[in-house]
Amino acid sequence: MLTKYTNAKIYRNKDANEILVENGKFKAIGTNLPDAQEVVDLKGQLVLPPYVDPHLHLDYVYTLGEMEGIGAASGTLFEAIENWPKYKATMTVEGVKELARKGIYDEVSQGVQYIRAQTDVTDPKFTGFKALLELKEEMKHIVDIQVVAFPQNGMYTYKGGRDLVEEALKMGADVIGGIPHYEPAREFGEKSIHDIVELALKYKVLIDVHCDETDDPHSRFVELLNALVLLEGYGDKATASHTCSFGSADDSYAYRMFDLFKKSKLNFVACPTENAYLQGRQDTYPKRRGLTRVKEFMEMGINVAFAQDSINDPWYPLGSGNMMNILDNGVHLTQYASPGELESAFDLITYNGAKCLNIQDQYGLDEGKPANFIVLDEKNVFDAIRKRVNVVMSVRNGKYLFKKKPQEFEVPFSL
Ligand code: FE2
Repeated sequence: MLTKYTNAKIYRNKDANEILVENGKFKAIGTNLPDAQEVVDLKGQLVLPPYVDPHLHLDYVYTLGEMEGIGAASGTLFEAIENWPKYKATMTVEGVKELARKGIYDEVSQGVQYIRAQTDVTDPKFTGFKALLELKEEMKHIVDIQVVAFPQNGMYTYKGGRDLVEEALKMGADVIGGIPHYEPAREFGEKSIHDIVELALKYKVLIDVHCDETDDPHSRFVELLNALVLLEGYGDKATASHTCSFGSADDSYAYRMFDLFKKSKLNFVACPTENAYLQGRQDTYPKRRGLTRVKEFMEMGINVAFAQDSINDPWYPLGSGNMMNILDNGVHLTQYASPGELESAFDLITYNGAKCLNIQDQYGLDEGKPANFIVLDEKNVFDAIRKRVNVVMSVRNGKYLFKKKPQEFEVPFSL
């Protein structure tokens, strides 16, 4: 079946206004394309590749309410990490899947089709991890999920932590994670980074480290991660998530690192809503925003993407899987919002996230790739972001995931 989408405003492609889809793939993108059995008039609306959420704790979504009585009152990152094991002991595979499904539907119903799921593996029973491996298969018709073997409570805060991570890689994790700033001494943080890179090379998996998620400017594990992936030529397969401390580092250090990041091609993920909420807790005033140097990364061509991070868990009570909300908060908090900057700002929740996931060969609006795309309720990029418009259509492998009707008002009004 051949389907033609006409009157499309295509993101990053000013020369085309039509899309031809056949057998689930983009057959052509251009102008005056051949007729098709099915023709869909997009009426000038904006077409983008699907949103990518490159960092979401899917095994935690909607657990905040479940943890009542266990204690998550102050809202600090370290309190949440401390309390998590008490709840974890009560989890079941089916229970995790039920909540995670809700999180997936939140995201997919708002235009996401790719999620990197940070998944705790500091549980000898691997309950959350097994749940996510199963969901990855069960939900692949609506979303691509990469599962990260993430040691939430560290590799060296107790004996056997590193071995659990390796076990998760044997069980089928797509990505190895880490949390060096949480290890009990700097040397153990560094040791964990060496382990992560060694294990990534051994098991041929991608890397995504929770790196320097602290306001301490002396937390500089990203420096070691970057040096190792540079040495191994593995930077494009590695991501440093959060790097909040880099936003507190002094400029002379930061500029030296910018050059090294460019050389390694290391990817970055910032979580604007989550880290604005969690960081700066020990500051009085002025309070830091807790975000890494997104604006400079964008200007220098260092790949950086935005992510949701959490939905209603002990780390962050809010979150709805709406990447437009993440983008809107992100461009404010990083001051990346001039009209010129906004023209490429959708990259932060689309192409840049896809680069973190290392899926460029199958992602994007190009001939021959899977026909995955979304349509926004606006005609240009600037107004779409300014008005935080909704996704009105999501297409996956040439089929509708959803179409939304235009908003109706019971009582019509006129200006
Ligand atoms: Fe995270």
